[in-house]
Amino acid sequence: MKYIVKSLPEYFKHQDKALENPELFWSEIAESFTWKKPWKKVLTANMHKAEIKWFEEGQLNITENCIDRHLQEKGSDTAIIFEPNSTQEKAQHISFKQLSEEVNKMANVLKQKGIQKGDRVCVYLPMIPELAYTMLACARIGAIHSVVFAGYSSTALASRINDASCKMVITADGSYRGAKEINLKSIVDKALLDSPSVENVLVAKRTQCEIEMTSGRDFFLSDLISAASTVCSPETMNAEDPLFILYTSGSTGTPKGMVHTTGGYMVYTAHTFKNVFQYEDGDIYWCTADIGWITGHSYILYGPLLNGATTILYEGVPSYPDHNRFWEIIEKHKVNQFYTAPTAIRSLAKQDISHVEKHDLSSLKILGTVGEPINVEAWNWYDHHIGQQRCPIVDTWWQTETGGILISPIPFSTPTKATFATFPLLGIQPVLMSDEGKELEGNLVNGNLCIKTPWPGIARTIWNNHKRYLETYFSAYPGYYFSGDAALRDPAGYYRITGRVDDVVIVSGHNLGTAPIENTINEHQIVAESAIVGYPHDIKGNALFGFVTLKRPISEAEKSALKIAINESISDQIGPIAKLSKIQFTFSLPKTRSGKIMRRILRKIAANEFTNLGDTSTLLNPEAVQEIIKNREK
Ligand code: WTA
Repeated sequence: MKYIVKSLPEYFKHQDKALENPELFWSEIAESFTWKKPWKKVLTANMHKAEIKWFEEGQLNITENCIDRHLQEKGSDTAIIFEPNSTQEKAQHISFKQLSEEVNKMANVLKQKGIQKGDRVCVYLPMIPELAYTMLACARIGAIHSVVFAGYSSTALASRINDASCKMVITADGSYRGAKEINLKSIVDKALLDSPSVENVLVAKRTQCEIEMTSGRDFFLSDLISAASTVCSPETMNAEDPLFILYTSGSTGTPKGMVHTTGGYMVYTAHTFKNVFQYEDGDIYWCTADIGWITGHSYILYGPLLNGATTILYEGVPSYPDHNRFWEIIEKHKVNQFYTAPTAIRSLAKQDISHVEKHDLSSLKILGTVGEPINVEAWNWYDHHIGQQRCPIVDTWWQTETGGILISPIPFSTPTKATFATFPLLGIQPVLMSDEGKELEGNLVNGNLCIKTPWPGIARTIWNNHKRYLETYFSAYPGYYFSGDAALRDPAGYYRITGRVDDVVIVSGHNLGTAPIENTINEHQIVAESAIVGYPHDIKGNALFGFVTLKRPISEAEKSALKIAINESISDQIGPIAKLSKIQFTFSLPKTRSGKIMRRILRKIAANEFTNLGDTSTLLNPEAVQEIIKNREK
């Protein structure tokens, strides 16, 4: 693959070229892949209409690039190392050849159950090999996978299944998460009461827990797989055919089904993986994310496999059976590149340092972080104790919508700086915008982070709702992609992401829209209205604070019960990750004269910042602020 950066001067040279002639730049990179038919036009873009196409009329199948083209030289090399939740269970090394057979068998099973090109298949699986097989099997036959994180509730699952009219759900009997065992199938059964489009459910056996099977609808994968052929010719896909849908929270409304297409996503994830992790043949790479999020799609599965890399799939959590687990896995598999989230770093940094020190971490070459801003203490701890000050840290900024990493140091080329994502990757043109919509020139500026020109990995639309796509990302600053994040540029031109500027709160690296949580709370009879804001939390990054007004006064005992009931309903409707850490009942919420809740003030109060609340005199009800401060929930 061309344009793999090995020094800072080389980075600048390539970046000039990429920005001068993006079409030539990306086509030179794309040439290293297997295409069934070459593209006719590299790029067609209208950022005002949010219409972006890459490699038009090119035909390919991404699984040929992830698997088949490696078979001759690396058939027996390990593609995936599956590290189970329990330390009692052995790790599995899955070679490219085995991966090919498993994916083809699964693809044949899907076909046999009537799945065709363009059909949507919902994948609700734990982090087990079947998850990788299923996604790749969909891609093999041109079905669109929609992976739903297996920690979401049945209501959240149903709304995602219905939004994309999925024809099939692939799940497991149960999942292991640390000491917990969760019956996934029962969650699916509940979701399907409201999901008429689903014809079949395929069930992988993992925990052997007791489940119900609906005859004619539900099948065990193991029964179908054993009879399936290991040969399945890859469907011919156009570069712009959808590869997958992945839902992400918006500041308002239902989750947005971001649609990623085939050719551009392939080229972008492969190229960024190689540059950001400087992956060399024989390296062992580990990203600890869940495949239910974009990080797992792009940098556990597609990016690594496209590069013929060995990628670890870890089923469990950082704290099970104890806080040694991550360091133990690094030592055991001699991990070279380790990619995790600030929230995991912060929680592990709280543990006794002996957990780290008793392990040999000398295999590590590069460390990565993703998902939220990393604070300087966590960065330094990671650098000192895990990287032993010899491993560059790549603080990678990107989003579900961007498909791949946009801003990140290139290790051993870009000097790192704590909490800075540093420079854009090749071909990316970030700009900082003033609230008035002006591009801020020069360095030492703060603004809203936009991207000026299209890149191959950008999502092309929101499933079934292009208007919302256009409005959410391309209307705040017409002609630019707006990320929803703010950032600053330091004197060297390095970017530091400072956080969301909309009503999305990132809790332990998970994006949560506040509106659906508020809607859930407001469904309680006694609740008049509510407002959710994030406040700083030393492990989760942010935690959720709910301000709730009631229709009539209630006793302290009733309040305690209501707090529990509110969190139960949130857990039920959205998932346990969206539970509130603090709830304060108030008489009223501060509002503007036009009736909008002033979240800015609530955010400050939640963060214990009672001064500098700004001008509250223009509020409709300034007294609400005083009342809330007086009774501030500890
Ligand atoms: C935040 C995850 C600071 C940001 C890949 C973004 C970050 C949102 C970083 C997207 C980082 C991600 N530094 N903030 N390195 N990486 N974010 O869609 O607010 O789950 O908009 O994609 O996470 O989260 P998403």
